[in-house]
Amino acid sequence: MELYRIYQENCIETLSNMDEGLLDMTITSPPYDDLREYNGYHFPVEEIASGLFRATKQGGVVIWVVGDRTVNGDETLSSFKHAFAFKEAGFRVHDTMIYAKNNPIPSDCGKRYRQCFEYMFCFSKGQPVTFNPLTLPIKQEKKFKSFRITKIGRNDLAHDHIAPKERKLNNIFFYNVGTSSSKDKIAFDHPAIFPEQLVEDQIRTWTNPGDLVYDCFMGSGTTAKTAHLLGRKWIGSEISAEYVRLALSRIAPYLQEERISGTG
Ligand SMILES: C[S@@+](CC[C@H](N)C(=O)[O-])C[C@H]1O[C@@H](n2cnc3c(N)ncnc32)[C@H](O)[C@@H]1O
Repeated sequence: MELYRIYQENCIETLSNMDEGLLDMTITSPPYDDLREYNGYHFPVEEIASGLFRATKQGGVVIWVVGDRTVNGDETLSSFKHAFAFKEAGFRVHDTMIYAKNNPIPSDCGKRYRQCFEYMFCFSKGQPVTFNPLTLPIKQEKKFKSFRITKIGRNDLAHDHIAPKERKLNNIFFYNVGTSSSKDKIAFDHPAIFPEQLVEDQIRTWTNPGDLVYDCFMGSGTTAKTAHLLGRKWIGSEISAEYVRLALSRIAPYLQEERISGTG
């Protein structure tokens, strides 16, 4: 399997040609609920989940970003169906994170609140081997005394505890969508791109430099670009020739010539 390449084919084809346990991480967003046309392609989630399970290393993860459509006032819950399909395939549902949009597209949502998030499932093949948590500084660094309550009252212990200086982020992540989500104007020729920061945060968390990252629905190439800039190897599938061309044009300035290739 050639690295640094977007295979212009159905990802089921790409997955079936991969060695078992090749991938450290997949980050992707499927074409759910026919929400957008994407040149008319569909996908069978069970087959993709099994293919990803076979191709993922023990301890590797799949970050699956997905939302639901509301049809006749009723949410499809496709995202939940996907989660069950990944469980059936052998993955653990390691974390159900939320990708919240700071600036969701305004829409008339009737008698419900404005829809502003998607699920960001972390499916893992066993316990994840890599976890580099993103952290927030904690402002007040306090020293506090350790004590034990005994029969004669409070008994201070000899050593003080230092409060931690930082803490792990919560699992709801907020990002801008639309034109502020990437500086690459060409990316917006695709109807549904990832915010680059989302991909960066997830790749940093679950991989180390040199690891291999896959996107089975590469679209405009956000995963390829970000993985490359973070020193990870990458590979992708994208069924639409038009989007492969778009992705290759987008990422070309960021890659060395010999590392770029698409297939026809
Ligand atoms: C939600 S978009 C992904 C966008 C991407 N995350 C980005 O940042 O640009 C889904 C993409 O999957 C592609 N696609 C749909 N079915 C596919 C399949 N079976 N195999 C590979 N790609 C597929 C569509 O053409 C579309 O570009």
